[in-house]
Amino acid sequence: MTIDQNALKREVARAALAYVEDGRILGVGTGSTVDCFIDLLPEIREKIPACVSSSERSTKRLEALGFKVLDMNEVDEIGVYVDGADEIDPSFAMVKGGGGALTREKIVASISHRFVCIADQSKKVEVLGKFPLPVEVIPMAARAVKAKLETLGATVKLRDFVTDNGCSILDASGLSIKDARALEDEINAWPGVVTVGLFANRGADVLLLGTAEGVKTFE
Ligand code: A5P
Repeated sequence: MTIDQNALKREVARAALAYVEDGRILGVGTGSTVDCFIDLLPEIREKIPACVSSSERSTKRLEALGFKVLDMNEVDEIGVYVDGADEIDPSFAMVKGGGGALTREKIVASISHRFVCIADQSKKVEVLGKFPLPVEVIPMAARAVKAKLETLGATVKLRDFVTDNGCSILDASGLSIKDARALEDEINAWPGVVTVGLFANRGADVLLLGTAEGVKTFE
């Protein structure tokens, strides 16, 4: 049986609706799974006073559906943050940033009360690192950070992409990430790094995983 990945994304997106807290600001991530989630939000419009978004892409989609999107500097905290992942391990540490929104995603996640990760089964892994690890960098630091990533054994490519923050992204492949928290701290400390796409120190609290047998919930 072939599995329809898009159908799995729609199913987990629907399951996430139940986690939206009535009357609290909703944090909205970025990506194709989150796009499915945004498209369902009109069904629970009355529960959502406003949103905070992790990208221009999600902001546009939310506003097109009539949702109010607040600037992060207008809010102290939000309720649930719903976002996808490129990989998620058994401790709920994630690789994110395939869509390039990692920095804003990490900022919004940091003020959320609960992180609900929505993903299809292809994203669940035992060890992070098969998906190239995105690292957002100040453009002038791209070469220096690339060299440092190479010393860790990675093969590094500069993505042909400019982030919402006007920065560059390096994609580091070939890393087998055993201690995600330590690697997150290490790379984040390098000069010129804006954010590494490891979400380990603040991982997910809930995983809604789309599988051929239906949505599985892990908490
Ligand atoms: C965006 O920068 C990413 O972190 C996405 O959340 C992640 O890549 C998942 O995206 P998809 O839902 O499109 O797989």
